[in-house]
Amino acid sequence: MTRIISPSMLSADFGHLDRDTRMIDASAAEWIHIDVMDGVFVPNISFGFPVIKAIRKASPKFMDVHLMIVEPEKYLARFVEAGADLVTFHYEATDDPRGAIRIIKDAGAKAGISVKPATPVEVLEGLLPELDLVLIMSVEPGFGGQSFIEGSWEKVRTLRRMIDSGHHHTLIEIDGGVSAANSAQLFDAGCDVLVAGSAVFSAPDPKAEIEKLIMNYEL
Ligand code: DX5
Ligand code: ZN
Repeated sequence: MTRIISPSMLSADFGHLDRDTRMIDASAAEWIHIDVMDGVFVPNISFGFPVIKAIRKASPKFMDVHLMIVEPEKYLARFVEAGADLVTFHYEATDDPRGAIRIIKDAGAKAGISVKPATPVEVLEGLLPELDLVLIMSVEPGFGGQSFIEGSWEKVRTLRRMIDSGHHHTLIEIDGGVSAANSAQLFDAGCDVLVAGSAVFSAPDPKAEIEKLIMNYEL
């Protein structure tokens, strides 16, 4: 079973981006989560290619890019060029998810789709054979530091059943309101990858907090 922590750089100190990226690089986290927001798909704007390239330079870890943008097709290949190992776009942001998956894979990266809290995971059934990852949003996308939406538990369990019964290799990632208080249960419910922003970066010792997010499972 996969047990990966993907700290979200949205909660890092942008005045010390290099320092914070190197801290994650030296931690037990295997992935780095990058949130791209365009101010249209979500009511917030984060950062784009130059910042992603700077993070890429500071760490060779697996770069997990979460696009909260409209018309993702236009930019998918450029995110791969900027260093993304995995590009995840939103199901709600495109009319042609299959075409978007193909663009990402042709560019040489892994492909993921994310669903907002109100979108049922069942809409992804036919796409699972082509998907490396499904990202379940457990808060409304747009901001860090929100509370975990309880309805997300059932979505994780349903998706776990869909993946296992179809013998797919798709990973389940969850994003929003994740902390050491719910990480063990999330892994138990069937998640493979946990995104954590404020829980990691607001902790007095972020590296210890990352270990706690993983360790809690083993206890
Ligand atoms: C929200 C982003 C998240 C965010 C999570 O739209 O997709 O990745 O950084 O932040 P926390 O872990 O603080 O809920
Ligand atoms: Zn995210």
